[in-house]
Amino acid sequence: MRAPSIHNTQPWSWRVQPGRIMLFADDGRRLVATDPDGRDLMVSCGAALQHLRVALAGVGAATTTLRLPDPERRDHLATVRICDGLPSHADSSLFAQLDRRRSDRRPYASGAPDAVVDGLRARAGAYGAGLVRVEGAARSRLVQALDDATAGQPHRPGYLAELLAWTHRYSGARDGIPRQSVPAAGVQGDGAHLHRFPAGTMPHHAALGPDAGTLLVVTTPADTPQDRLRAGEAVGSVLLAATAAGYATCPLSQALELSATRTRVRNEAGGVEYPQLVLRIGRTFGHSGPVPETPRRALSAVLR
Ligand SMILES: Cc1cc2nc3c(=O)[nH]c(=O)nc-3n(C[C@H](O)[C@H](O)[C@H](O)COP(=O)(O)O)c2cc1C
Repeated sequence: MRAPSIHNTQPWSWRVQPGRIMLFADDGRRLVATDPDGRDLMVSCGAALQHLRVALAGVGAATTTLRLPDPERRDHLATVRICDGLPSHADSSLFAQLDRRRSDRRPYASGAPDAVVDGLRARAGAYGAGLVRVEGAARSRLVQALDDATAGQPHRPGYLAELLAWTHRYSGARDGIPRQSVPAAGVQGDGAHLHRFPAGTMPHHAALGPDAGTLLVVTTPADTPQDRLRAGEAVGSVLLAATAAGYATCPLSQALELSATRTRVRNEAGGVEYPQLVLRIGRTFGHSGPVPETPRRALSAVLR
């Protein structure tokens, strides 16, 4: 339940049976204007699947995972079985980060060194995904693609309605993005891509410089539902591992939601694999406080 998801829609549900847990996509929570082909939804569900395995490993359970086991039921994304043996150390080592990870939308003072990115790339590789660091002139072009997506999306019918619906929830809502999770006006940083959401109330001193976060693109060899699910698992693992290493993180999906900017992201990430999500990773400015926890739906609402 603590997994990251597009606009904190938490578009998943679970069925728990003796010895196994099944993950389903909740298509009723898909953002039809923002995410017409369901990529963000699938990536979000992949992150939830990876978080489930970390949670199970953390309590000592070894698991096996069957992805998209039923061709007749495309919403049945995975079945995780409890099996004999020791839990995966790679998963159990991330257990403590489930409650600590946050999406941090503030500008970052610095990025991550190559050695850290190499470790994160190995995490993504375990799911068959790539993690491409985009630097120098390519980084500037990627930022331009992110900014162009931010400028273009409001023209898409329904996009702003979804943005407002998920950033202005009714009181007591347990989903969506609270205003406290978005930096206040004037301190959101320089690039348009850093303020996807209307300015919030997050207290934050002005950044001491432009955002210097490392930009990483999560890629997959093809663009099937299974690739997107695995990309989400890689995202979950990379974000938790970066949190463990003391880095702030934030997913950036806008440029992947429009086909023209998605092609540009693909080119900047090497032009061979398919991009699924951009991640920004770095250290916040020293005086930045902690990021508040975002809400989650009740367990009873996500159990079938
Ligand atoms: C597929 C996906 C796309 C996302 N896209 C963005 C984005 O473009 N900008 C952003 O600030 N956050 C983005 N997020 C982060 C979510 O808004 C965040 O996970 C959610 O609000 C829950 O908050 P938390 O990550 O702090 O737990 C994305 C997350 C996922 C999984």
